[in-house]
Amino acid sequence: MNRISARVAAISASATLAVDARAKAMKAAGRPVIGFGAGEPDFPTPGYIVEAAVAACAEARFHKYTPPGGLPELKQAIAAKTLRDSGFEADPGQVLVTNGGKHAVYAAFATLLDPGDEVLVVAPYWTTYPEAIKLAGGVQVDVLTDETSGYLASVEQLEAARTERTKALLFVSPSNPTGAVYPPEQVEAIGRWAVEHDLWVVTDEIYEHLVYGAAKFTSIATAVPELADKVVVLNGVAKTYAMTGWRVGWLIGPADVVKAATNLQSHSTSNVSNVAQAAALAAVSGDLSAVAEMRTAFDRRRQAMVRTLNEIPGVVCPEPLGAFYAYPSVKELIGKEIRGKRPASSVELAELVLEEAEVAVVPGEAFGTPGYFRLSYALGDDDLAEGIARLGKLFGEAR
Ligand SMILES: Cc1ncc(COP(=O)(O)O)c(C=O)c1O
Repeated sequence: MNRISARVAAISASATLAVDARAKAMKAAGRPVIGFGAGEPDFPTPGYIVEAAVAACAEARFHKYTPPGGLPELKQAIAAKTLRDSGFEADPGQVLVTNGGKHAVYAAFATLLDPGDEVLVVAPYWTTYPEAIKLAGGVQVDVLTDETSGYLASVEQLEAARTERTKALLFVSPSNPTGAVYPPEQVEAIGRWAVEHDLWVVTDEIYEHLVYGAAKFTSIATAVPELADKVVVLNGVAKTYAMTGWRVGWLIGPADVVKAATNLQSHSTSNVSNVAQAAALAAVSGDLSAVAEMRTAFDRRRQAMVRTLNEIPGVVCPEPLGAFYAYPSVKELIGKEIRGKRPASSVELAELVLEEAEVAVVPGEAFGTPGYFRLSYALGDDDLAEGIARLGKLFGEAR
């Protein structure tokens, strides 16, 4: 008999969190590490949200259990916010409040998948998806993209990966790790293709408010209303309101899916912390001025990062249009000699960069595509400039 169940033993540690932990440990040991690993805004949670949480601590009703699927007033506010921001109309009964967006990902796949069901996932993909799909018994089918298409998958590519066992498409725009944002017409074409083949669409909209320049966020659920009975929208407060530590996300879907997912939650986590839900209520009921300020800073850093990365020989970085990540190819540097070493993969190159330049990046292996680095630009402008300069110096020595 297995000591650890085969199901759970197959799960790997989060590579992004591991890089962050290693960089923090080096920093604690006194080394001047610059971290591009973090997947969270470097801003504090806005004051009015914190104040709502402080007030909630004193409310006696919040000291007790509340409905496992979320506070009714929060579900209502999430439905209203979704209509305001993406145009998708849902009843509060179609909302499940989860312990962060990550838990919404888990809940969606646990609720939709039977063993052997295939899920189309565009690579590069965020590290959590494969594990959530695997835990549910699902089979991930990768649809590989690269920098030449700006990391966008076409309907033809999706169709080539579809089989009789395909149950769902996971659609993520803006994307973590690439920052790719699908143009509206491509979102609609993909949604129509999903309807035509009667597929479920699980759409992760957590970066909806972080789009730059001429790019526009388009919800696939709104672009193709015929999907309504087979679409599950995932979202949360983490990225929009700098609330990663509060752990509030949600899932919106057809009533039967949400009822089933709520039953599952009633036996696992029960209600999300009421104090955190009260904070999320203040966040989603308020305006979007805090995220507008963050977006301005992110956009400035994004432009600086893309420009300076592309100046480094061997680095090719398409312009990310959303989220707060750049995803350059470092393929040309692999196998070259740098400071007496010859890294054979992007994992080895990232290790060399951490040791020699004291810069933390996440290697593409974490996102299903070796040969790339993910760099978050959610860090101060000066650190960003210094970190890229260190990369440039180190890579300038490649022979
Ligand atoms: C694409 C995507 N979805 C969901 C999440 C989940 O965020 P959280 O669990 O902090 O709400 C993240 C966080 O990195 C993400 O990048």
